[in-house]
Amino acid sequence: MANGELLYHAAGCISCHQPSPDLKTVDAAIPAGGAPLQTPIGVLYPINLTPDPETGIGGWTDLQFLNAVQRGISPEGENLVPALPYTSYAHMKPEDVLDIRAYLATLAPVKSPERAADIPAEPLIRRGIGLWKWVGFHPTPWTPDPAQSESWNRGSYLVNGPGHCQECHTPRNIFMALDSSKAFAGGPHPEGKGRVPSLLGLIERGRYTDAADIASALQYGEVMGYDKLSSGGMGQVQRNISMLPETDIKAIADYIASLK
Ligand code: HEC
Ligand code: HEC
Repeated sequence: MANGELLYHAAGCISCHQPSPDLKTVDAAIPAGGAPLQTPIGVLYPINLTPDPETGIGGWTDLQFLNAVQRGISPEGENLVPALPYTSYAHMKPEDVLDIRAYLATLAPVKSPERAADIPAEPLIRRGIGLWKWVGFHPTPWTPDPAQSESWNRGSYLVNGPGHCQECHTPRNIFMALDSSKAFAGGPHPEGKGRVPSLLGLIERGRYTDAADIASALQYGEVMGYDKLSSGGMGQVQRNISMLPETDIKAIADYIASLK
């Protein structure tokens, strides 16, 4: 459960599964779901992740949970919109994903009924996502690089798996798939507004003095005088990362600092 809690924060589940504004008595830190999430194809209301058996995921099997989070398939067999970053979560170890589930199972159950997505031509879109998976979805497990340090490898796992940093920091090709030849090079924001900065050569370009500087930016954010860490969803990402142990924040920074 401790590992699951850590990875739940690294994965930022709360950023999208926030409680609906109607649930006035529910703490904003509880992923009770139902808050609107704007995406380029319409508004989605990510579900209740608390263990409530009727409106949450209490009644789901572990396999249903893995299929949703790592393959983008709902218990009904539908293709899920990749706004749920299963394309990155697919690189995680399945046992780590199940640890997240074990942590979620410790939360107090909240009644928060599922709300239908507001997507024009939804059945057609969901079929289109099935086709898109052929070109844009490569669920290969993450593998370590033995030439690199333990901290770098931990950072690589956290960034490319749970942290899903590439979902915003890597531009997409004409098929809307991540363009691996431009990994971390930044580009248009996937939600359609503004741009996402490059994470390449952050030290060489003088954005940060060293890896420790990147770590403190990720840990403390703009309150410590850093900039470019609040808009376009990065504020939520930074808050989630700040919940991690310092060794993991340093690992993420070691990996990011090595991107040339
Ligand atoms: C960037 C936003 C985002 C993040 C981060 C995110 N989700 Fe979601 N999640 C969504 C969206 C959007 C949907 C609805 C997808 C759809 O209806 O096609 C969803 C749906 C789900 C579903 C339900 C699938 C179904 O069958 O209805 C589960 C389970 C889920 N998410 C678990 C998680 C877990 C666990 C995490 C953290 C490890 C997480 N999500 C992080 C956006 C997100
Ligand atoms: C939801 C999209 C999104 C995700 C996911 C995301 N970022 Fe960002 N990131 C941004 C945006 C947008 C900015 C620029 C914010 C601003 O200018 O206020 C940014 C800025 C940054 C910066 C500052 C760059 C600079 O030039 O100083 C760093 C470092 C960074 N992100 C690291 C990460 C890491 C590490 C992860 C994964 C744990 C991550 N980001 C995940 C959108 C995202």
